[in-house]
Amino acid sequence: MPELFDPVKVGSLELKNRLMRSATWDGAADSDGAVTDEAVALYRELGEGGVGLVVTGHAFISPLGQATPLQYGIHTDHMIPGLSRLVEAVHRGGAKITTQITHCGVNSGYLRQQGTPLKVVSFREGAESPQEELTDAEIEAIIDDFASAARRAVEAGFDAVQLHGAHAYLMAQFLSPLSNQRTDQWGGSNSKRRRFHLEVIKRVRQVVGNDFPLMIKFGAHEAREGGLSLEEGVDMAREMAEKGIDGIEISVGDARNSIPRLAEDDSEEVLFRDKAAAVKKAVTVPVMLVAGIRSLEMANDVLESGDADLISMCRPLIREPGLPLRWQQGDLQPAKCISCNKCMPRNGRVLECGEERRIREETSSV
Ligand SMILES: Cc1cc2nc3c(=O)[nH]c(=O)nc-3n(C[C@H](O)[C@H](O)[C@H](O)COP(=O)(O)O)c2cc1C
Repeated sequence: MPELFDPVKVGSLELKNRLMRSATWDGAADSDGAVTDEAVALYRELGEGGVGLVVTGHAFISPLGQATPLQYGIHTDHMIPGLSRLVEAVHRGGAKITTQITHCGVNSGYLRQQGTPLKVVSFREGAESPQEELTDAEIEAIIDDFASAARRAVEAGFDAVQLHGAHAYLMAQFLSPLSNQRTDQWGGSNSKRRRFHLEVIKRVRQVVGNDFPLMIKFGAHEAREGGLSLEEGVDMAREMAEKGIDGIEISVGDARNSIPRLAEDDSEEVLFRDKAAAVKKAVTVPVMLVAGIRSLEMANDVLESGDADLISMCRPLIREPGLPLRWQQGDLQPAKCISCNKCMPRNGRVLECGEERRIREETSSV
């Protein structure tokens, strides 16, 4: 039975253990998307903290794909030297690192605030704002941008590339029957809605080669009526694995529940375990489970049950980058993270972590 600190392979990528840091926007890029000294320090701490694989914060592949301020960019060759510093910082601690490449499509609060016109995958009846659809040529150009970003990732020395196919960003927008109601080659049937993903995978593979590890964070279902069903998500996972994806991190396709808050009684809720288990039955590539895992006991329970092959964490490693090492050294207390979401960006600023529990403890002791 595999346990958290057992090694694992994802495609050709050899990891010292089965714990990965899920992609995390950290607001540590500069206003052009370049890596700063603050970012290098953060990644050094993560690399030394004992995790097997670090996924960077999502890095935008083109200016119109930027989702948040102070987000890493992988949209020009000028970004490569800075990104190499992140790679070096993580490698120094003995961990591996993949970048996550993303295009946010129409879901960029940041660009909208700046008045940048954003195009939708498909026009929706009754939408509040005027909507312009992406043209065929624009879609082709975005796919090329994914491939160029992957080429930069290889040049920067990353060990792998992860595509961001979750949380209502562009890839998820193409796959969703709600946001993709096109009637051309990019939509109109299950197989046409899948085309964008499959083209991205094909063109990235052409650039990075067949052996370079390529993963996806995948919205395997949508928590909205009429959205992507788990059944279709599972079948899509199977097809992606057949067509060149080496590992699938399971999350949700829409934004709802992508960063679930804690249960009232602080219990450890692992929302996507059944989704990961369903995908796992359909594929032979490693499946990663993210969201809500806070204890070594739960992590090992998931691995031993065979519901997933790797455990992925975000917020616990914001609070405690050294959590994996702490567990390995025998302090088995669960993560200190209470999923209060104070680490979420507010106007580009990360608030103080743990504030919610402190307030609750103070009020309950009165
Ligand atoms: C501050 C913050 C930034 C995040 N940035 C990203 C990101 O860049 N890409 C991504 O796929 N998910 C991102 N997420 C979602 C996490 O990777 C993860 O899926 C989610 O937080 C659930 O895992 P957790 O319960 O271990 O935190 C972010 C979450 C937080 C709290």
